[in-house]
Amino acid sequence: MQAIRIIHDEHRAIAAVLHGMLYLVREIRDRGAKPNFDVFGAMIHYIDAFPERFHHPKEDRYLFRVLRIRHPDAAPLLDRLEGEHCTGAHKIRTLEQALTRYQHGGASEFPDFAKAVEDYAEFHWSHMRAEEDEVLPLAEKHLSAADWEAVDTAFLGHVDPMLGADAGAGYQALFTRIVNLAPPPIGVGPATHPDSPK
Ligand SMILES: [Fe+2]
Ligand SMILES: [Fe+2]
Repeated sequence: MQAIRIIHDEHRAIAAVLHGMLYLVREIRDRGAKPNFDVFGAMIHYIDAFPERFHHPKEDRYLFRVLRIRHPDAAPLLDRLEGEHCTGAHKIRTLEQALTRYQHGGASEFPDFAKAVEDYAEFHWSHMRAEEDEVLPLAEKHLSAADWEAVDTAFLGHVDPMLGADAGAGYQALFTRIVNLAPPPIGVGPATHPDSPK
């Protein structure tokens, strides 16, 4: 089932960026690292654009839609997760605003930014966990081979090219940009804490 592999791969990419943001927040809090606003900006842009425009639409339009038909009891779970796809977009705005305040207001704004990062990461992890631990097993149980063929076709971008591999390559480029900007061990960019070798 291509769709399941694609969901897992995309969740891993999102989780990597969330882990990266939390790591950089800890480096600032615990080791006095200098904030790199370009890296935070690129990370927030990624977790906004990639799930919003590429990942969630496939879940909503194809996998969840078929599962609703095959297993109506899943409706409350799917309603909750689709609702989170919407509320997630609002939470990203909160995160962006906290970053702007931190960038312009200085260290006194850091605690609020750190809390916004931690809240968002926790929110998105529990969302992905529910999809992997609850939705995917239900889908494996209730979808037919023909259903999977249709869902896989859509997940591979053969229904809407904006959800396919070529569009995915654009998000991969964003991910690579983060890796190039972020300091080790998250990426290969310049180190940001004071005791790092230059
Ligand atoms: Fe989702
Ligand atoms: Fe997901």
